[in-house]
Amino acid sequence: DAELAGKAAPLADRLAAEGAASKLAAQDATLWGPDAESEASIRLSWTTLHKSSRPLIGEIEALRAELRSEGVDRVVLAGMGGSSLAPEVITATAGVQLTVLDTTDPGQVADALAGDLDRTVLVVSSKSGGTVETDSHRRIFAKAFADAGIDAARRIVVVTDPGSPFSALSEKEGYRKTFLADPHVGGRYSALTAFGLVPAGLAGADIARLLDQAASAAEALAADTTDNPAIKLAAAWGAAHEAGAEKVVLATTDSGSSSHLPGFPDWAEQLIAESTGKLGTGLLPVAVEGPDAPGFADAKADATPVAIGVPEGAAKISVTGALGAQFLVWEFATALAGRLLGINPFDQPDVEAAKKAARALLDDPEKLKGGEAPATVDGS
Ligand code: PA5
Repeated sequence: DAELAGKAAPLADRLAAEGAASKLAAQDATLWGPDAESEASIRLSWTTLHKSSRPLIGEIEALRAELRSEGVDRVVLAGMGGSSLAPEVITATAGVQLTVLDTTDPGQVADALAGDLDRTVLVVSSKSGGTVETDSHRRIFAKAFADAGIDAARRIVVVTDPGSPFSALSEKEGYRKTFLADPHVGGRYSALTAFGLVPAGLAGADIARLLDQAASAAEALAADTTDNPAIKLAAAWGAAHEAGAEKVVLATTDSGSSSHLPGFPDWAEQLIAESTGKLGTGLLPVAVEGPDAPGFADAKADATPVAIGVPEGAAKISVTGALGAQFLVWEFATALAGRLLGINPFDQPDVEAAKKAARALLDDPEKLKGGEAPATVDGS
């Protein structure tokens, strides 16, 4: 879109001149502001996961082979948001089966329990190790395994951060294996950590290839040039924001296309919303099914996914590339957009506050009985 491109050009120039992309790649957070500095500087290790996650591949493949030799080939994932969306996309794109428990919907839980438990392994994924929904699913499955005469400890694999309550619990219960992830990577940036790779790899996705795809994009993303796809995307996004746009609509090509990435818009929606939708600013990301949302029929083309500025006369931006590369492109772009919007894209005060409020309620049955409202969560 020529108009958006015109407005975006100075923003792309600014990011390039500041050296924002190379700083990000080098995990230097100084550009994200004094408040963000201390927090952000320990939260940038996602930029090099295509290298640091390599050693995981062998471990995951060995566990998968072991489980297969025991006749266990059905993977159920208990995890939410940053701990479920990426493995969902990876497995859906690879065309392998993963059953995901990411809500407390009794229907979803009943469906997951109705599968063949003899062939099932449960991956319990939680960075904080304290998310109540995920813990509920763990308990429900542990009981279901025991009721079916299956040794639950052999069928539960945990992915969590070092020192979290789940890591202690896993040791106490003697669960099959615990994968400890890098605590310096925030949930929504964790697609290429154990959180994305363990469930997807156990389900049979080619996770080595995924890291190769990310590695192939890394050089271009670290370049301080206006050709850098993340700089382009962030600049377009910043320009749309400056022009008063309120939404970014995310779609992927249709399912008949080889570049279809099922579920990718949902993953990107969370990344963008939690990273830049704070302090009353940011663009509202909206994931839509398929490329044919009203007014966007001509956005199909050969690209995936498609970011579109709304409303009226929406500007369309197509981003192409394999899934591993796309994870990195959108993460870089989100961080760079945070720079343009003056927002720390790495913290998540409201998510943390909501979790604490939920946990406090559950820990105090009297409050639950009285129907007392949880502590208020400020912000967006
Ligand atoms: O992006 C985030 O931080 C959140 O979506 C979390 O991933 C989600 O709340 C799950 O948290 P946890 O992995 O701690 O269970």
